[in-house]
Amino acid sequence: MAGELAEKIIVLTGGGNGIGAECAAAYAREGARVAILDRDLLAAQNTAKTIGDRCFALRADVADGPSVEAAMAEVLRRFGRIDAVHNNAGIATPSLPLHKTSEADWDLLQSVNVKSVYWTTRFAFPALVASQGSILNTASVVGLIGQSNHAAYVASKGAMISLTRAMAVDYAPFSIRVNAVCPAGVWTPTLERWCAEQPNPAETRHNLDRIHPLGPCPHGDVVADVAVFLLSHRARFMTGCIVPVSGGAELGYRR
Ligand SMILES: NC(=O)c1ccc[n+]([C@@H]2O[C@H](COP(=O)([O-])OP(=O)(O)OC[C@H]3O[C@@H](n4cnc5c(N)ncnc54)[C@H](O)[C@@H]3O)[C@@H](O)[C@H]2O)c1
Repeated sequence: MAGELAEKIIVLTGGGNGIGAECAAAYAREGARVAILDRDLLAAQNTAKTIGDRCFALRADVADGPSVEAAMAEVLRRFGRIDAVHNNAGIATPSLPLHKTSEADWDLLQSVNVKSVYWTTRFAFPALVASQGSILNTASVVGLIGQSNHAAYVASKGAMISLTRAMAVDYAPFSIRVNAVCPAGVWTPTLERWCAEQPNPAETRHNLDRIHPLGPCPHGDVVADVAVFLLSHRARFMTGCIVPVSGGAELGYRR
């Protein structure tokens, strides 16, 4: 099938919902075959069913090494190749300052949002070397500018941004590109849960529609379009790039 990603084999984590589901659909539209790794197999299967036979679902917990290893092995068994890994699965709870964050919540958040990149890279690396492939990380603008009451999450996204740059330098000699997208607000189940945790959820929802100078809080399609570009041949000379897809939410003072 023709398209910007024709016949690429893309491993996408967290494609069962939200931004990941939009990316899976966009990748398949552009001719890729997409393996969705999600701890929620039913959600991943629903995404795959909507997209059709260019997409299949695997249950995997990205925080668990053996689970990721088994999923990568299954992708390689089916396709014999991996052209791209999109590290997108993430959690955003708890919404708290650091001193109120429990050790268990801190550890879980860093495992899912950051250590997952270690696991997927470790187990996909030989295949990415062979394909001269690409890695894409879904970070967040809060990893660049900070956010109140969300310390563990902000730290995890800051780490992902730094890791993107470190990996880009290490893997350029292998012709593997590593980039990150940084959304601000995007309406997804995670954002809905985060809003519900805020002292005034209705006001938070209202604010989310006001923080992006380009317009109201978007859906995941805006991120998926940029993700397609970053994984395509058109971005062949881009690596280590941290790309806000944020409607300008991080830009300076506003009145
Ligand atoms: N929605 C936003 O406003 C926003 C903003 C900036 C960044 N992000 C980032 O975008 C990414 C996707 O977020 P979303 O809002 O689409 O979330 P979502 O909750 O809609 O979807 C996340 C998916 O990841 C899966 N997942 C969670 N933990 C997992 C694990 N341990 N192993 C495998 N799969 C797991 C979930 O089952 C779900 O299908 C996250 O990394 C998030 O931090 C989201």
